[in-house]
This record gives sequence, C-alpha cells and structure tokens, in this order.
Amino acid sequence: MKINPINLIELINIGITKIMKKPKVYVTRHLPMKAWEELIRSCDADIWDKDTPPSYETIIRNLGNKAGLLCLLTDQIDEKLMDAGPDLKVISQCAVGYDNIDIPAATVRKIQVGNTPGVLTDATADFAFTLLLSAARRVVEGAKYVKDGKWETWGLTLLLGQDVWESTLGIIGFGKIGQAVARRALGFNMRILYYDLIRKLELEKTFGVEYCPLDELLKASDFISLHLNLTPDTRGMIDQSAFSKMKPNAVLVNTSRGPIINSDALFFALTTGQIAAAALDVTDPEPIPLTHKLLSLSNLIIVPHIASATYSSRDRMAMMAVHNLVAGVHGEPLPHAVNVIIS
Ligand code: DGY
Repeated sequence: MKINPINLIELINIGITKIMKKPKVYVTRHLPMKAWEELIRSCDADIWDKDTPPSYETIIRNLGNKAGLLCLLTDQIDEKLMDAGPDLKVISQCAVGYDNIDIPAATVRKIQVGNTPGVLTDATADFAFTLLLSAARRVVEGAKYVKDGKWETWGLTLLLGQDVWESTLGIIGFGKIGQAVARRALGFNMRILYYDLIRKLELEKTFGVEYCPLDELLKASDFISLHLNLTPDTRGMIDQSAFSKMKPNAVLVNTSRGPIINSDALFFALTTGQIAAAALDVTDPEPIPLTHKLLSLSNLIIVPHIASATYSSRDRMAMMAVHNLVAGVHGEPLPHAVNVIIS
C-alpha cells in the first residue's frame, strides 16, 4: 500500500495529539505489570515508585494537573487533598474498603470514587479461616516452640487448643466475605450465627445460618470473625463490654479493619482469660509499633494486613482499579462505583 507523505504527516500529527491528550493521573504505588500496561495505554501517569507510601504532602504536590488518582488504603484522601486537584474526576481505590477516603467530600466535588469488590472475597475468607484455625490450634506458638529448641517429647497436655469441628462460629457482618467464611465453616460442621444490620432470610434457608442479635452472638460463639466496614458506628465496637460477654474459650479473628477492636480491651481480655486467643490481620494503628503491648502476648497472632495477598487477587484488584480510573478520567460511569454523582 502506498502512503502519501502528506497523509503520513497528518497521521503522525493525529497520533501525537492523541498521546498529548492522554488524561494525566497520579498513582501512589507501583502496580502489577499487566494493570500498569493497561493504565498507560490510555493515561499519562506519574507514579510514586517506592514500596512505602508517599506522604500526604507528596500526593498533594502531584495532584495539581491530574484528572485521576489511583490510591491505596494507606493514603489519607480528604477534602484538603481533593482541593489540591481541581481537575480531579476520579479517585480509584485499589481495595474493597475505602474508610481512608472522605466519600461525601468527593461527592460534593463531583469526583467519582471506585473500589475493588468481589475479586478478593475468597482469598480473604481463606485467610480468615487460616487465622481461625491457627489461633485455635496454636500453630504459631507450636512453630516457635520447635524453633526455640523446647521440643523434648510428646506431651499429653502440650499446647492444647480449641476444637473447631462442630463448634459455634459467630460472623459479625454478613456481606460477601462473611458469607464466604460461612461456606468454609459448613465443611467443619460448625453451627453458624451471624449478625448484620440487614437480615438475609434467603441465606438462612440455603446455608442453614442463624441470625442472632449481637449480644447473643457474643455470648454463644466459640469463634467470632469480624467482617465489617469501618464507620463511626463500628469504630471501637468490640470493646470491654463486648469482651465481657464472650466465652473464656472464645477465639476472635479480625480481617476487616483494626480500629473496630479496642486494643486496650483486647489486651485485657487476652491477659485475664476473658477470651482464649485472637488473630488479627489488621491493627490500630498499622503498622503496629514493635513496642506495642499486644505484641508481647503468645495467645495473639498478628500478621501485616495480608488477607487478600494472593497473586491472582492482587492482579485482579489492580486491574479493576485501573478500569475504574480509566472510565473516570474519560467521564464515564465507573464499573465499580462507591458514590453516586448527580449532574
Ligand atoms: C481491602 O481491600 O479493603 C483489604 O483490606 C485489602 O485488600
């Protein structure tokens, strides 16, 4: 095919104009390769290319001319920050939880906010169950015992734990992840209680789960697993009064958000035998300081917010966040929106 040189120049010009017109975005951490390639196909991206988060001021400095922000749950996204980005059309959070973002402030400014629901449900439920089993059967203590050279013989009373099979599980927050935990618990023949603001009658029939008022659930459960969003209502919800209702053999698991549990009350409960053990994927604050008194307890497992950390979940989360970002910078509705913008 012959190309007329004039047309060729025209084509190049169109190409250049297209490249120049790519919307500008800021990305607060590096992304898996496929998601990154997808992003730079349609956006002109500045990225914070380190493993630790950019400071609040750094994000502010970079927002001046950006139409989109792709952020993580470690970034605090408030009114002041949004005002630093007058062209901002979309904030795309690479996580399902978004308590780090002031949603009403974004809505008032007509900034769409997106998140990544669904793709991390099973990884998170697997991990909640991993923590439940590990805390019940003292896996971390056992491994440490061996490495510390303390294993001298088989002992009838060595590292005794709690039965999981046919025990009672109380799930607080019965959304997608809570339900996925319930499906796993069925395999352990557990009695499953749930508490949620919305009663799920259909699931009660299909799963055989039982709705339970919160206090009743706290009193009856051998295991309690938290699957709530962090809101003003849920902050500090598992406090001294909640622990005082739990069984002495109870094991508490948290894969939702750290501040839902009052740390002082948890310390008291674990050191006075109010409950048997706990396992936390999330803490308040994160990361938990090395000097924190909770880290001195052998009946508490703490891991660094990794419940969704599987290769495939993180790839899919990043891709979903990119799709939200790209839709938003082009003024389209987000595939997974958190807020509703009325134009
Ligand atoms: C989330 O997505 O909110 C989790 O806490 C991290 O995957």
